[in-house]
Amino acid sequence: MCGIVGYIGEDQAAPFLLNGLEKLEYRGYDSAGVAVYNGTSLQVAKAKGRLKVLSEMINGGRDVPGTVGIGHTRWATHGKPSDINSHPQVSDSGKFAVVHNGIIENYLALKDLMVKKGKVFVSETDTEVVAQLLEYYYKGDILEAVIKVIHKVEGSYALGIICADDPDQVVAVRKDSPLIVGLGKGENFIASDIPAILNKTRDIYRLNDNEIAVLKRDSVLVYNTDKEIVTKEPVHIDWDVSAAEKGGYQHFMAKEIMEQPKAVRDTISPRIQDGKIVLDKITLTAEQIKRFKKIYIVACGSAYHVGMIAKYVFEKFARIPVEVDVASEFRYRQPIMDDKVLVLVISQSGETADTLAALREAKNLGVRTLSIVNVVGSSIANDSDDVIYTWAGPEIAVATTKAYSTQLAVVYLLAIYFADKLGTITAEEYSSYISQLQSLPDKISEILANKEQIQYLASQFFNAKDVFFIGRNLDYAMSLEGSLKLKEISYIHSEAYAAGELKHGTISLVEDGTLVIALATQDALFDKMISNMKEVKARGAVVLGLTTKQNKKIEQVADYALYVPELCEMMLPSLAVVPLQLFAYYVASMKGCDIDKPRNLAKSVTVE
Ligand code: M6R
Repeated sequence: MCGIVGYIGEDQAAPFLLNGLEKLEYRGYDSAGVAVYNGTSLQVAKAKGRLKVLSEMINGGRDVPGTVGIGHTRWATHGKPSDINSHPQVSDSGKFAVVHNGIIENYLALKDLMVKKGKVFVSETDTEVVAQLLEYYYKGDILEAVIKVIHKVEGSYALGIICADDPDQVVAVRKDSPLIVGLGKGENFIASDIPAILNKTRDIYRLNDNEIAVLKRDSVLVYNTDKEIVTKEPVHIDWDVSAAEKGGYQHFMAKEIMEQPKAVRDTISPRIQDGKIVLDKITLTAEQIKRFKKIYIVACGSAYHVGMIAKYVFEKFARIPVEVDVASEFRYRQPIMDDKVLVLVISQSGETADTLAALREAKNLGVRTLSIVNVVGSSIANDSDDVIYTWAGPEIAVATTKAYSTQLAVVYLLAIYFADKLGTITAEEYSSYISQLQSLPDKISEILANKEQIQYLASQFFNAKDVFFIGRNLDYAMSLEGSLKLKEISYIHSEAYAAGELKHGTISLVEDGTLVIALATQDALFDKMISNMKEVKARGAVVLGLTTKQNKKIEQVADYALYVPELCEMMLPSLAVVPLQLFAYYVASMKGCDIDKPRNLAKSVTVE
């Protein structure tokens, strides 16, 4: 996720661009840059680091004069944060400058094509290919060139483009990444999000996929890919600025919950090509995978809960024994490790101190390491032998949601990939698992579309004192996450228990009215879970059951029932977690808690 802005008017562009980027820094902040037409050519200034580094470098914009420009604040995907990889990316001759939010999935093939045509690339980004393609196709009409380029590229993009040969326009196009056009008087704007332009205008066009906006000082025309004009209705924005930064949501957590279908799709789809899993840059060979006799999964908090699910998934698909450890324990327990072991580390931030220390410990022992990380270029990503990034984008809320979901998605990709290399699944199973994985984003959307039902349930229980989450196997691992979500943001005491273990002590805490959330998504364990629900009901509990749509039988026991769509059992945690996140969110919201910044917590725990 990145932020883009663009300006054309009579004022100086750079100060507006810097101001707009500041409002978009929540979308990414590892580097920033601007390109401005200075009367003869495109002047580009960009720098690794926070926006203020760039701002100081160009003297608040004064060193980059001109009235047409584009700007970018980056969340690195392709290529680590660096000056060269920062946007704008420019074409070979410096004629085109491009800012991009999204991922060009087929950039390697396109890069090869452009290299064969003699273009020289300087960055590791996927975006540079767009600048080069534009220059290649440009024959005096930018719109024409843009249409040709978007027919070539696959993936997601919001693009802002300027051209030194035709400097009186800014061109913008989007597909699956947000982009708006701000409508001014004698000046017009583009931006990834509304706050970037609110100091200039409140009238905007929301671009739809494959719409191309051509901005001049006094006009904005929007075209489709057949070069026909699209008639757009301006939208007037009356939000206050802080609401707009959250995209209209009250909290980042709500926004991030709703972003999950996209985040999961962005994580999965570039890695599935022609029905095969392609794990971009991992160097592990099939031979190395075959040598592993054990996987240690090491992580903290919610990432550890992903590891708990991963244990079941790897053992079922790849038939490799898995141990899951909380990183702060792992580092001090002297685990038995040799060259037949893989240490798989999971972390959103890539900076969690205990996880990083455990990773380094494994590396010191010469053990092979692989990490699943969201923040590109973070310490854990840098220090691992291999890294697979989750493309969740920046996660602002302390309680993780979309990072958790994308970590799970990578676990499925990786386990199926291993299973294929090890021959532990058939070709039919391989294809079936892949297509089920591809169906995840739509199924998550289906659950999100019914969020009001969960809001209602939250209204019934937001005064609860204690809540228990119970489940078996995968559902137990899910219970851990459901319970953590609830306690960290609502401050309600909650415990997750293996359903069969409850009667060995903890059931004594169940009394009249205690809420027990029972997860029962696995068919083979469904009847066992029904028995466990009956046990707690007999002690006065109110039971909220969560299962798949076919298991309506749950209503015979549970007081309330929630359903998720059908899916291969191993992948159901990706669906079941969503109602649990929403439940925690609505309960905390009804209690008036500081949801995005819960007490005593930090987003990234960089101390031991
Ligand atoms: O950045 P990491 O994934 O390494 O963070 C690990 C935990 O601190 C994190 O998952 C934490 O438990 C979240 N607040 C849970 O919502």
